[in-house]
Amino acid sequence: MTKDYIVKDINLAAYGRKELDIAETEMPGLMALRKEYGEAKPLKGARIVGSLHMTIQTAVLIETLVDLGADVRWASCNIFSTQDHAAAAIAAGGTPVFAIKGQSLEEHWDYLDKSFMFADGPNMILDDGGDATLYVLLGARAEAGEDIIPVPASEEEEVIKAQIAKRMKASPGWFTKVRDQIKGVSEETTTGVHRLYDLHKKGQLPFPAINVNDSVTKSKFDNKYGCKESLVDGIRRATDTMMAGKVAVVCGYGDVGKGSAASLSGAGARVKVTEVDPICALQAAMDGFEVVVLEDVIDTADIFITTTGNKDVIRIEHMRAMKDMAIVGNIGHFDNEIQVAALKNHKWTNIKDQVDMIEMPSGHRIILLSEGRLLNLGNATGHPSFVMSASFTNQVLAQIELWTKGDAYGNEVYVLPKHLDEKVARLHLDRIGVKLTQLRQDQADYIGVGTDGPFKPEHYRY
Ligand code: NAI
Repeated sequence: MTKDYIVKDINLAAYGRKELDIAETEMPGLMALRKEYGEAKPLKGARIVGSLHMTIQTAVLIETLVDLGADVRWASCNIFSTQDHAAAAIAAGGTPVFAIKGQSLEEHWDYLDKSFMFADGPNMILDDGGDATLYVLLGARAEAGEDIIPVPASEEEEVIKAQIAKRMKASPGWFTKVRDQIKGVSEETTTGVHRLYDLHKKGQLPFPAINVNDSVTKSKFDNKYGCKESLVDGIRRATDTMMAGKVAVVCGYGDVGKGSAASLSGAGARVKVTEVDPICALQAAMDGFEVVVLEDVIDTADIFITTTGNKDVIRIEHMRAMKDMAIVGNIGHFDNEIQVAALKNHKWTNIKDQVDMIEMPSGHRIILLSEGRLLNLGNATGHPSFVMSASFTNQVLAQIELWTKGDAYGNEVYVLPKHLDEKVARLHLDRIGVKLTQLRQDQADYIGVGTDGPFKPEHYRY
């Protein structure tokens, strides 16, 4: 049989398997779903193309989807986030995966294309950041002779267009056929969800979508507590810098910003925050952080982290004004938060994988992490298993919902119902010894909820 995977080294599979075994003990939500649905196989017939960081935690997600009956093919959604031993374990287990840590942009889009290559094409998408969805929709638009919608990460635009042209030449009509047989997409992250709502607003969403990010048990946990653990982990593995006493600036105080600021302050850094939203700025101030504008701290701070999901937040003029050896990194989804493209003509010295020192015209140097791509996955191993279990339990529930009841959904963006959100949380309590109080009937009546939930109205914000 020809080899249907691309990984760095298949001999890493045994190491990956050992880490997978450990991760399973920290992912009670996914393991509970295997127990609940493993026999019924609700995903039987589903051919899921996954585009999500190929980590150990994702490997447990993939094996859960397979356990529930799905056929799966996988690519990573970031060129630096793959854990090669995790990819090897998945490939050795028989699931086609196309992901290597440090793959080029051209390889990235080629690997995504390969992950679509089921004999009959995929019928479900599991996305993180929207690249898999984007690929199909852009390709179908190109086949219809329409303009290609703008791609946020513009540096990639040419690469994507070339990949689409290659596929169109090899298999005319392929994108349109695939688009028409996709029953739904579940989307992992804030940035991908923005894209989906935008597509829906423009009347261009051709299938139902579930916004996994805005399950409470995803964004209020993974984005926040996940980054609280993984941001400083990434900075330390990259630089070994002393964190205590340093001045760190966190741009953005949404869920990721809150976790990032907590991460840095937990390590002893003196944290300042920038925000555009008065509500989040007020939250930052009342959490004890000084809220500043970037220009006022640009030449005094030691560490700069972007968490906004926006573009051009740290620009070339900012980096030129930074003090010598300032550390610059991004934990938002795309690399355009920092104007890395504008640094291309500067002198780069590679220190090690995903760590570069760049010299400014003044002679000052900055340390840039993961070329401006999300540093917690590029320089470290992303979030710990436990919090990813909550995220991925939502993913699996979303896939089951779309696959088994997709016809009941319109071509809109939905979030999972609150009772499932509460179920995800409930599945994670035992592992950390949490004991819930049981609501009495008279108390439940008094506050107007069921004794077994849902415990909050839809408008409650947690
Ligand atoms: P969010 O919308 O909750 O927070 C972003 C914040 O940035 C908002 O409060 C917004 O007002 C602020 N902001 C926007 N433009 C700004 C500017 N120019 N200056 C200062 N602040 C600005 O979004 P969330 O959930 O925090 O996600 C942020 C990014 O992180 C997204 O790209 C998301 O996809 C990504 N993400 C990354 C993870 C990782 O592990 N690296 C995990 C989860 C999300």
